[in-house]
Amino acid sequence: MYCWMRSAALLALWHATAACAEPLVSSPGQRSIIPRWSMQSSTQVTQDLASLSQPGTDVSSWYRVGPRGTVMAGLIENGVYNETDLFYSSNMEALSGHAAFRAPWLYREEFTVKPMAGQHYTLRTHGITSKADIYVNGVQIATSEQQQGSYGGHRYDVTRHLTAGTNCILIRAYPTSYLRNFAMGFVDWNPYPADNGTGVWRNVEVLQTGAVSMSSLRVITDFHNPTAKGTDTVNITLKTELHNKATHSVPVTVNGTITDPIGADQVLIGGTFTLRAGERKTVELESTVNGPHIWWPAGWGEQDLYKATVDTMIQDTTLRLSDTSTRQFGIRHVSSYVNGYNDTAFQVNGKPFQVLGAGYTPDIFLRFDLERVETIFQYVLDMGLNTVRLEGKQEHPELYDLADRMGLMVLAGWECCDKWEGWAYNDDADGVKWGDSDYPIARAQMLHEAEMMQSSPSVLGFLVGSDYWPNDRATKVYLDALTEMDWTNPIIASASKRGYPEALGPSGMKMDGPYDWVPPDYWYGDKEGAAFGFGSELGAGVGTPEMDSLRNFMSPGDLETFWSERDAGLYHMSSNSSSFYDRSIYNKALYARYGEPTGLEDYVAKCQMADFEATRAQFEAFSIRQNATRPATGAIYWMLNSAWPNLHWQLFDYYLRPIGAYFGTKVGTRAEHVAYDPATQTVWLINHSISNHGEREVAIDLIDANGKNISSTRLKVITHPTTSKQLQTVPGIQKIKDIAFLRLTLRDTKGKKDLSRNVYWISPRNDVLDWDDSNWYTTPVTQYANYTRLESLAQADVKVTIPDEKPVGNGRPDWHHLKVQLENKSKRPAVFLRVVARNVTTKEEVSPVVWSDNYVTLWPKEKMTLSVLLKGDIRDTGFEISGRNVELRAAQVPVSLTR
Ligand SMILES: *[C@@H]1O[C@H](CO)[C@@H](O)[C@H](O)[C@H]1NC(C)=O
Ligand SMILES: *[C@@H]1O[C@H](CO)[C@@H](O)[C@H](O)[C@H]1NC(C)=O
Ligand SMILES: *[C@@H]1O[C@H](CO)[C@@H](O)[C@H](O)[C@H]1NC(C)=O
Ligand SMILES: *[C@@H]1O[C@H](CO)[C@@H](O)[C@H](O)[C@H]1NC(C)=O
Ligand SMILES: *[C@@H]1O[C@H](CO)[C@@H](O)[C@H](O)[C@H]1NC(C)=O
Ligand SMILES: *[C@@H]1O[C@H](CO)[C@@H](O)[C@H](O)[C@H]1NC(C)=O
Ligand SMILES: *[C@@H]1O[C@H](CO)[C@@H](O)[C@H](O)[C@H]1NC(C)=O
Ligand SMILES: *[C@@H]1O[C@H](CO)[C@@H](O)[C@H](O)[C@H]1NC(C)=O
Repeated sequence: MYCWMRSAALLALWHATAACAEPLVSSPGQRSIIPRWSMQSSTQVTQDLASLSQPGTDVSSWYRVGPRGTVMAGLIENGVYNETDLFYSSNMEALSGHAAFRAPWLYREEFTVKPMAGQHYTLRTHGITSKADIYVNGVQIATSEQQQGSYGGHRYDVTRHLTAGTNCILIRAYPTSYLRNFAMGFVDWNPYPADNGTGVWRNVEVLQTGAVSMSSLRVITDFHNPTAKGTDTVNITLKTELHNKATHSVPVTVNGTITDPIGADQVLIGGTFTLRAGERKTVELESTVNGPHIWWPAGWGEQDLYKATVDTMIQDTTLRLSDTSTRQFGIRHVSSYVNGYNDTAFQVNGKPFQVLGAGYTPDIFLRFDLERVETIFQYVLDMGLNTVRLEGKQEHPELYDLADRMGLMVLAGWECCDKWEGWAYNDDADGVKWGDSDYPIARAQMLHEAEMMQSSPSVLGFLVGSDYWPNDRATKVYLDALTEMDWTNPIIASASKRGYPEALGPSGMKMDGPYDWVPPDYWYGDKEGAAFGFGSELGAGVGTPEMDSLRNFMSPGDLETFWSERDAGLYHMSSNSSSFYDRSIYNKALYARYGEPTGLEDYVAKCQMADFEATRAQFEAFSIRQNATRPATGAIYWMLNSAWPNLHWQLFDYYLRPIGAYFGTKVGTRAEHVAYDPATQTVWLINHSISNHGEREVAIDLIDANGKNISSTRLKVITHPTTSKQLQTVPGIQKIKDIAFLRLTLRDTKGKKDLSRNVYWISPRNDVLDWDDSNWYTTPVTQYANYTRLESLAQADVKVTIPDEKPVGNGRPDWHHLKVQLENKSKRPAVFLRVVARNVTTKEEVSPVVWSDNYVTLWPKEKMTLSVLLKGDIRDTGFEISGRNVELRAAQVPVSLTR
């Protein structure tokens, strides 16, 4: 292309070299994101956006940012703020209410196209927070009336505004109030980002087509379950809306291909017809797939994915491509029903799918790092969870693609409180009540998110409300939009049982707490959040990070307060306006059950034990009751992760370091498992698989603090898929004087495999709950279990060795498996052993890291092999072990591994 020579002066003036650049899009069906932006506060530049959006304006002093990002994310990217400093102590507090975030911010970029007759260009947004004016080459193409809401995705025809050569797009993003705007608030999760998430947080795209454009493909299958009649063939319907943008009628041919998971293609004939000027028409392509590859959640089968591609061609002198669309999909069926107890239960491919999940949060500044999300999802699956709940944090298409490939179910939905739940009947939240102008925004947002998720096999359902159900008018708007997008998954009124719109019926999900500490036997009760029905957000509020992470974000003063002041408010807990700003309920229990902490490290060690116990009990109780008379149909732990370095409501910390809460979950959700129910003092056999069955051996061993045997039992049992059954009481449990350890092991004797090993510390008395005094976040305890004997355990001697074996890769670059052998040399138990991998150079705890197990308790003389998967150079890695009664010591790494 023609590119004029520039003088040095001109070059300096011209920040962007767009005039010489390759066109952003150059063929029909092509779509490209705006790859970068220049970002600036509207207070720093002229208010004449028409002129500012003309190509050639000097914006070299603006911040350069990536294709999507909030204002805060952009400022961090440019070094205005330093994340490490911001997250340290209460530094971030200083930014709250900062004037810079009370004015709009501008995002501007130049790009090249070479438009020609017959070509059409569309600017596509996917949501800008909170709302935006959009200009192209001096002309306003969208007002903030239209372009509103974090999820408001729109298509703007910009054909007549583009010129050959350099073009410019300018976006003015308005400041965000969580109470007035449809944005992404954090409610009580954490302090709010100073910009309230304002900005171009999702990509903006430019699309080129011929006269006729297509919408995203929608995929519908008639598959129900693998045993249904006629499952050897599945009918697949692809739908797309064609739009003739020309001012004359156009003959159109549509054809497509479905590529199966092994790469074989199947051609589809869509047909030939004529579209009138401006006409929109939805076309369907039908196909029958023989011998379908079924998509399963992880643990139940393969994640087979199909790809559909459809071309739209127009006939003038020859047949030319006008637009093309590609979509990944899976053949599977999810459904839900409300059972006789008004509890929602899910099914996947006809099998009862007990939801064991946790609540996901994006980064506080909404930065989306795909590799980080992949690690988070890997952790979720490693912990044995099968679902993440997104409460109004639907992120980006890449998240669904990842979940589809990894087999992780996604329960999406709108968020609670704030503007989203500004209903007349909601007195709990301060969101501005909805007015007439809000419904079209809601419609655009629902259409957009439904379109994004429509074909993803990982999507388990959409909750159109969280704490409160939408009113009838909004429900209709949501349902119509979902229907329009051929939504085939469950639609649920809300995540609570407070009420429901007639059009949707009862939600079948309870939101009765707890969110703060409750003892393990809470889950075995029959009230509030105990293990029955579907708990949409609940947990004992645990998730204390380990020492390395704490030191990253807490000052020495904060750390002192943290361990020594039982009731202190802490900036790294929930937001200061919430009930979860301090750890008083948690600490009261911790002091009573584990003994008053003697220092920071002692406090953190006790927290890890308490956290492990808490998450294990929750998931075991729900697992045990998966086929109870009133079944426990699902539990979403509150929460999975944190938006910033946080002290609770997480299963691993912000630095992706697994903690006690992680391994409690991992033990509690094992596919085949044996668990102890403290309420009845019985042992249960659990099976979450859909196919494993047959004979198993269960061992029940009880010892005292000195390792002396109290009882030892071996049982032959039969296990059945997706059910749990009670085995027997633990012999000798009444004989416990101060403390005992219970080890349950499950073995597949035929397959010669240990399936589960699970150790409890047991107090002579249980915690006792005062159910009648429950509030929305906890149930008080009138008597605590007593684990203080742990304070005076005799020391155990544990040897840790790394076998001299070559580490094995796992398919992800730089990841390696390694074995770690533990041996308890003493005659007494070695309690709550933590093995940690450290970078020998920086001395920091290595993350991400996946341990087969951790925080384990060894029997006298017991040997155990753990495996660890970590990213990084093995030569840089050392291992350390410590425990409740085991001094910190380093492992010997064989010379061959250090070379
Ligand atoms: C942020 O500040 C910390 C020290 O407070 C420093 O170690 C780090 O390199 C800084 N990060 C960036 C991106 O400048
Ligand atoms: C962020 O939203 C809150 C309402 O939740 C509001 O009080 C605050 O002023 C907003 N901040 C900015 C910078 O607009
Ligand atoms: C597929 O569609 C055909 C024709 O519409 C129908 O006869 C057949 O029963 C369908 N197959 C299945 C598995 O439902
Ligand atoms: C549609 O047909 C054209 C012409 O036969 C072919 O080149 C193209 O690959 C087909 N498209 C799809 C998606 O199968
Ligand atoms: C289930 O909900 C319906 C509608 O609110 C109510 O009429 C019915 O009594 C409930 N059933 C149970 C078992 O609670
Ligand atoms: C749950 O399934 C087990 C089989 O694993 C069965 O023994 C038990 O009776 C079932 N529970 C109920 C309440 O039906
Ligand atoms: C807790 O147990 C210890 C011994 O293990 C005992 O000394 C102490 O008195 C018990 N505390 C209470 C409150 O019963
Ligand atoms: C250890 O830290 C060094 C320095 O930051 C880094 O280059 C190396 O990759 C790290 N190794 C591991 C295993 O994390």
